[in-house]
Amino acid sequence: MFSALEKANVLTEALPYIQKFSGKTILIKYGGHAMTDQKLAELVLKDIILMKLVGMNPVIVHGGGPAINEWLQKLEIKSEFIQGLRVTDDATMQVVEMVLTGIVNKKIVNLINSFGGKAVGLSGKDGKLILAKKKYLTVENPKNSQGAQELYDLGWVGDIVNIDPALVHSLIQEGYIPVVAPVAAGSQGETFNINADYVAAALGGALKAYKLVLLTDVEGIFLGEDSGSLASELTAQEIPQLIEEGVIKGGMIPKAESCLEAINMGVENVHIVDGRKPHSLLLEIFTKEGIGTMVVK
Ligand SMILES: Nc1ncnc2c1ncn2[C@@H]1O[C@H](COP(=O)(O)OP(=O)(O)OP(=O)(O)O)[C@@H](O)[C@H]1O
Ligand SMILES: [Mg+2]
Repeated sequence: MFSALEKANVLTEALPYIQKFSGKTILIKYGGHAMTDQKLAELVLKDIILMKLVGMNPVIVHGGGPAINEWLQKLEIKSEFIQGLRVTDDATMQVVEMVLTGIVNKKIVNLINSFGGKAVGLSGKDGKLILAKKKYLTVENPKNSQGAQELYDLGWVGDIVNIDPALVHSLIQEGYIPVVAPVAAGSQGETFNINADYVAAALGGALKAYKLVLLTDVEGIFLGEDSGSLASELTAQEIPQLIEEGVIKGGMIPKAESCLEAINMGVENVHIVDGRKPHSLLLEIFTKEGIGTMVVK
C-alpha cells in the first residue's frame, strides 16, 4: 500500500490538472458493456464524484446494451443489430425506454447519490433536451453486384435534429451531475432510440465540452486482431476509411463516428478508454499517461 507521504505526493501531482480542468465540462459516455461489474461501476462513479468536487463539470450519458438484451430475452423479443445499431420495432422501443430510463439511469443516479454526490437523471425528452427524427441507414445491397446502396429501415432508431442544453446547464450550475439516458422525442411526440455514443458527441458539442471520454469494454480502437494493434492516436480523417475497410465494426462504428462528430463540433479532446480498468477515467484526466485511443483533428 502507499505511505502517507506517497499519497500526499499523488495529490500534489494532480494539482496542475485540477487547476487546468476547473470549471470545464467533461462529457463522459458510460457504455453499458463497461457497466456490468458492480464493483467497477462504483469506482467509475466515485471518480466522477471526485471530478465534480474538485471543480470540473462532469456530465454522464449512458448506454445499456447488456441490460436491454437481458430484458428483451426475458420478454422473448428478438433483437438484431445493423452496423452497430439496434433495429427497434414497437415492442423493442418500449423495452429500450423502460430499461434505459427506468432501470439503468436510476441505478447510476442512485449509486452517485449514495456515495455522497448529487445526480439528476433525465432522458432526451426532459426539457426538450434532444429532438430526434427517424434515421435511415444507407447499406450496400448484397444482391446487387454493382454495389448499389439502399436505405435500410431501422424502426424507431433516431437521428439527432436538435439539442437544447438549457436544462443540463441549469443542473450543472446548481451543483448536480446530470445523467442522460439516450432516448428522445420526435416532433410528433414519437419516441426514438438513439445510440448513446451519438448523444454524447452531440451533447458534448452543444455544451462546448472541453473533453469527451467514451468508456467502453475494450482498450480503445484496434487496427488488427491482437492487443498490440491498439491505436493510441488516430486522426479524425482516418476514421471513415477504417469503417469502410471493416477494421472498425459493430459497436465501434457509432463510437468512432461520434469521435469524428465531436471534433467537428469543436470538442478538442476526444478519448476512447477502457471502462473495465479501475480508475481509467482518473488516469485519463489526472495523468500524462496516454491510455486508450485519442482522436485528434
Ligand atoms: N476496431 C475495433 N477496435 C475495438 N473494438 C471494436 C473494433 N471493431 C469493433 N469493436 C467492438 O466494439 C465494441 C464496443 O462497442 P459496444 O457498443 O459493444 O459497447 P459500448 O458502446 O461501450 O456499450 P453500449 O452500447 O451498451 O453503450 C467492442 O467490445 C468490440 O467488440
Ligand atoms: Mg455501443
